[in-house]
Order: sequence, then structure tokens, then C-alpha cells
Amino acid sequence: MLTYKKGELVCEGVPIPTIVRELGTPVYVYSQEILLKNFRRIKNAFAPLNPLIAYSVKANSNLSILSLLARDGSGFDIVSGGELHRVLAAGGKPDKIIYAGVGKTADELRLAVKSKILMVNLESEAEANLLSRVAQEMKAKVRVSIRINPDVEAHTHEYITTGKKENKFGISYKSAPEIISRIARLPHIEFVGLHVHVGSQILNQTPHISGARRLVTLINNLRSLGIEIRTVNIGGGYGIGYKEREKPMNVEKLAKKIIPLLRKIGCRTILEPGRFIVASAGALITSVTYVKVGDEKRFAIVDAGMNDLIRPSLYKAYHRIIPVKEYQGKRRMEMDVVGPICESADFFGKERKLPSLEAGDLLAICDAGAYGFVMASNYNTRLRPAEVLVRGREFFVVKKRESYKDLLAGEQYPPYLR
Ligand code: LLP
Repeated sequence: MLTYKKGELVCEGVPIPTIVRELGTPVYVYSQEILLKNFRRIKNAFAPLNPLIAYSVKANSNLSILSLLARDGSGFDIVSGGELHRVLAAGGKPDKIIYAGVGKTADELRLAVKSKILMVNLESEAEANLLSRVAQEMKAKVRVSIRINPDVEAHTHEYITTGKKENKFGISYKSAPEIISRIARLPHIEFVGLHVHVGSQILNQTPHISGARRLVTLINNLRSLGIEIRTVNIGGGYGIGYKEREKPMNVEKLAKKIIPLLRKIGCRTILEPGRFIVASAGALITSVTYVKVGDEKRFAIVDAGMNDLIRPSLYKAYHRIIPVKEYQGKRRMEMDVVGPICESADFFGKERKLPSLEAGDLLAICDAGAYGFVMASNYNTRLRPAEVLVRGREFFVVKKRESYKDLLAGEQYPPYLR
């Protein structure tokens, strides 16, 4: 997404310093071209199955990103009433929206039924019973798919594995036939298919293939019990190369293995990728506030913090950090790139080799398009950053930087403090 031209980083046709001069830092920058390229790569790879690609909104829910994907034919995988609201506001079609999550509330289910979304992915029998009651109340019939916990090892960070039996997601692979036959008989519910999601940032094909195989076996079982299955949702989770030598998931190769498996069962296929589409299309641009040389370490203290991008602090995630000004000299120094927040976990990179930096120098924290802004908070009462979309030689502010006024919005005093 970022390349050096004439000594500085450029996104498509826009030099990063141009954006910074106008908007300041920290700022998220997204490339429209890369976003669409990533989406189309998955679409083309799986084209023989003609799947519904339901972009996983949790990865980045900026309205302009949603709108671009909707216009390119994407569907949406949502996990809350808020995400549903955003997708509809951005012009997403209800008949391409699927709703997952272990804790959907009655209000959220009502909103989903009212919006006539494509289907609800149920994660428990209790949820099925609640949805059945809600649908009855609303005199509607709701299509549902059931999330299966396939108990496969995904070899990713423990916080982002979702398909092991100790995880809270889905219903167990073993009890599925029994539970599904009960759910399929509930009033106002139309059982249409199965769903599986094995985890996130997966670089190896095996967990995806095992997950899909488990679904195929289960579908055959259910069919022999007389239960019809029309859709099969194989989730998302395709990993990207955050580190210099880390290879992203080869979606074309994966598709070649998945297609013959799923073809045999003749169901409509659904995919829910998030990170793969949007991570590499975004960077967080930050500016060095101070360079501090401690007894043991050198620190570049930047103006972005863990409140803007929490992945390094929360998952010890690695994001490449590169200087916006091209550096050709040989001398690099080892330093920690840290934020201004009062927590030792507030860092973006440790022991990184960077040119000797000075205050005002710009850095790009790469691959921050997914689970970046969406996980940002106001911790330390900091303003959440602006978001910019680049298209060719133009760039657009797609979310304004928060203001001090925004920070106070919604708060009020009890009468005795007024
Ligand atoms: N479908 C379901 C049911 C999911 O739970 C998720 C992600 C996805 C699809 C999309 O997965 P993706 O293609 O983006 O890997 N905050 C973490 C990632 C959490 C992912 C949660 N579920 C991070 O920053 O790495």
C-alpha cells in the first residue's frame, strides 16, 4: 500500500506528508485500490462456487469502506445491532447480511428480523428459542444457520482462536445433529445451513480445510436424518503477512482445495473474510514527539497510542514500522516505538531497527486497516484519530478527528452538581 517515491512514502498517488500537512497525526490512511484488489482476489479465487462474500464488518466499519465493498457486490457479516445499523446506512443490501455472535440480545434480534436480513447464525439452543419467540411476536419467519464448533487447532494467538471446543463459540460438533433437529422444528424458524469459523490470522491452510471437511461430514449426516441443508458458511480468518518474511494466506491455493470439497454437497457457499480485505489497505501514520535515550534503551515516543491501535498491546501483534522519509544510509539504531499513554503496554514495536529519528519525523505503522480504528478508544481522554481514504491522486477525510467537544458529548451532571 505504501511505496517510496522521490524519497517519501506515497499511497497510490498521494504523498503521505501531503495528508499530514492537511490533517495532522495520528491519522489512518486507507487505499481504495488495495481494498478492492484484496476483495476481488477472494472473489476470483472462489468464483467457481459463486459464493456470497460477506465482509466481516468488525475488521473495519468505516461507512466509506462499507459503501465501496457494497458497490463491488460484497455482503456483510455483522455481530451487533450497531454494525447492522452501519451497514444499512452505507447502502448494504439486507439480503446479503448475515448475523453472528454468541450474545445477541432480544432487541438486536428484533432489529435483524425487522431489517429482513439474509440469515442469523445461531450459536446456542437458548438463542434459537429466543429468536423463535421474537419472530413469532413479529409474525415473521427467520432463516437461520447454525454455527458449529469444529474443534480444530488454528495455531494462532489464543485470544483469536475460535474453533476449539474450549472456546465459547458455536455448538459442539458432536451434539450438532441432535440440537439441530430440535432447532429445525422451532416455529417461525427456517433452518437453512451450517456455519464454521476456525479463528483469525490463520496462515496455514489445514485448519480451514479441516473445518470445511467437518462441515461436509456433518451435512451428509444431517441429510441422512432427513434434514436439508442449503447453505454452507466457511467463515473468514485468512491471515496476512505482518512480518517482513511472513507469507500471507495464498487464497488461490486454498480455494483450489476447498472448491472440490464444497462442490460435492451442492450448497450455496458463504465466506466471511475481514482482515484479508482491509488490513493491508490501511496504515496508521504517526509523528515522533520525542526521542529519549534511557539507560538501556532508546525510545521513539510517538503521538499515536495504544488507544488508537491496540493490537501490539493486546496480542503482542507485530506491525512493520517504516519511516515516511526514505532512509538510504546504513546506520540504523535499535529502539522501541512507544506511545504517550501511562501504561508499559503502550508500544507499537520493540527493538526495531530504524534510522536515527528526531522530533517531527513521521512513521507509518503498516497493515493497520483491520482491527485498528474499530478497536480505538478514548483512553487517557485522547481524541480518536481521523481516517482518510485515498483514491488515485485524491484523498478524502472519511472520518473527522474527534474534537474536545465530542469527548464530552452525552455526559451530564446529577442535579446537585449542576
Ligand atoms: N467470522 C466470524 C464469526 C468471526 O468471529 C471473525 C473474526 C471473522 C469472521 C473475521 O475474521 P478475519 O477474516 O478478520 O480473520 N481483534 C483481533 C481479531 C479478532 C477476530 C474475531 N473474529 C485482531 O486484531 O487480530
